[in-house]
Amino acid sequence: MMRQAGRHLPEYLELRARAKDFLDFCYSPSLAAEATLQPIRRYDMDGAILFADILLILDAMGRKVEFVAGEGPRVEPIRSAAELDREPLEKVMAKLAPVGETVERVSPRLSEKTTLIGFAGAPWTVAIYAIEGKGGTDKTFPRQFGYENPQELDAILAQLVEASAHYLAMQAKAGAHALMLFESWAEGLPEDGFDRWVIQPTKALVSRLRELGVDLPIIGFPRGCGSLLAPYVERTGVDAVGLDTAASLNWVNKTLPKGFPVQGNLDPLRLLAGGDGLEARVRQILDGLNGRPHIFNLGHGVLPDTPIENVERVLKVVRQGAQ
Ligand code: CP3
Repeated sequence: MMRQAGRHLPEYLELRARAKDFLDFCYSPSLAAEATLQPIRRYDMDGAILFADILLILDAMGRKVEFVAGEGPRVEPIRSAAELDREPLEKVMAKLAPVGETVERVSPRLSEKTTLIGFAGAPWTVAIYAIEGKGGTDKTFPRQFGYENPQELDAILAQLVEASAHYLAMQAKAGAHALMLFESWAEGLPEDGFDRWVIQPTKALVSRLRELGVDLPIIGFPRGCGSLLAPYVERTGVDAVGLDTAASLNWVNKTLPKGFPVQGNLDPLRLLAGGDGLEARVRQILDGLNGRPHIFNLGHGVLPDTPIENVERVLKVVRQGAQ
């Protein structure tokens, strides 16, 4: 149940209050390891997601990144690939080294059955934050930028591919068991833009990781891509995909290759609302994806006001279903 999930847990809020700011929290291996382990302790989940953020890489690449309470992330905006070239790769990796250390601390503290998922933002999504500089918009400006400056955007994406490959390889070396690519802003792209800005950079990132000797499973999560999930699965080389809340299970079963693993796709608002409707939907999802390897998950992240009992109820139903 990835993404900013801790905010519904009192123990997380208590831990966060101890850090100077959110970036400092992410770069403190002891705090970040503790935040990674909290949901495992409370819920005994089967998968732990590394505590970090997709925007750390921009910070490490020399752009100013801030998390402003109530406003979401802010990034010093770029208009050219050169502006992402402030720091040599060794310095970028040195800045990100504490994330590797978090993985090293967490990995031996998990039981045999618990998978540790490392992650990075997929290049297009990270580029969106870099170009736009802030959240809370409809994210159309980076698309316009791409049409007006196609070579520049390709170069920005290529830089992010290279830095992210080394970052993920570091997480793999430190002991992650699987890697996830968050493509949170795949929605609304036309087919040609989706191919150039989402599929090709993801494919390049997966190939680069394989070249660097990483053989872990890679999960892609192109949120909001609709039917373009089919070419994404066909061409990127990822080993599994996350399904967003709008994915039709019937379509997924008919369209994705037999045996191709999926993750998803409970609506976080359904989780927040709870009740019998929640249980019914969980069963529908379990039944709907019964024919293929399925990692039960949300279609996006846990919302801060989600009651803990609702998460517990879901886990109970999923575990019964899995027996
Ligand atoms: O669930 C986890 O905590 C695992 C670690 C994790 C975080 N962010 C920590 C975090 C993961 C996997 C992410 C991914 C992430 N970060 C994504 C991809 C998933 C998605 O949401 O689509 C994106 C787009 C980001 C960028 C980002 N970071 C946003 C939009 C925010 C929320 C800002 C806000 O004020 O609403 C963050 C902050 C962030 N990252 C928090 C956590 C726990 C919340 C910080 C806090 O309030 O404690």
